[in-house]
Amino acid sequence: MAKPPSGHNLSPYWLPFTPNRHFSKHPRILTGADGMYYIAEDGRKIFDATAGLWCVNAGHGRTPIAQAIAAQAKKLDYAPSFQFSHPGAFALAERLASLAPPPLNHVFFCNSGSEAVDTALKIALACQQLRGQGQRTRLIGRERGYHGTGFGGISVGGLVNNRNMFGPLLPGTDHLPHTYDIEKQPYSRGEPEWGIERADALEHLVALHGADTIAAVIVEPVAGSTGVLAPPKGYLERLR
Ligand SMILES: Cc1ncc(COP(=O)(O)O)c(C=O)c1O
Repeated sequence: MAKPPSGHNLSPYWLPFTPNRHFSKHPRILTGADGMYYIAEDGRKIFDATAGLWCVNAGHGRTPIAQAIAAQAKKLDYAPSFQFSHPGAFALAERLASLAPPPLNHVFFCNSGSEAVDTALKIALACQQLRGQGQRTRLIGRERGYHGTGFGGISVGGLVNNRNMFGPLLPGTDHLPHTYDIEKQPYSRGEPEWGIERADALEHLVALHGADTIAAVIVEPVAGSTGVLAPPKGYLERLR
């Protein structure tokens, strides 16, 4: 059994989105991080050009952040998230609501992007029920979209390897075409000039299924996991 220098047995832990047999023969283990660099097990410094998985944008190992985490863990390490709460949750929700454009004025905290997406889809369906529009059950996603690994997320997502092992998925989903065409968008910087017409496919889906059957449309503004594709100019506005 391959063991990295730290000596751990690698087989009990399955890494997601990773060929695990190959990884266990050629492990890539990070043991520290500072500023914009990771520190590998063999001591190499590795420039972190993606800020973790896009989630450490303030930099690694920042003392004020580490101190704030430690102080909160000491003062109140856990509070139930329903029927009870704590001041920090309200403070963060208030801040996020003030930063988001109207009408985004409420916050629902989740543990991951996958949970957030599945929850958003459920909120959309429940909202239609409460509006007296319970026939609106169809969820529209997009080819090449990534919305996490929950059943809702893979159903509206459009990455075949995340979908093809899991049967029929959620019923009643459909997909817009993706916006990537290398021949029409070569050497684009920022939002490509070509592609706004791909938003018109939503009209076709509405005509096919009936507008009053659609509960929600979900797309990543910038499609991340499929290759970081900026939206074509005007595409998101037309979709909306
Ligand atoms: C648009 C989008 N939705 C959902 C997710 C899933 O997030 P998580 O890995 O936290 O479950 C990701 C992760 O990259 C994402 O990019």
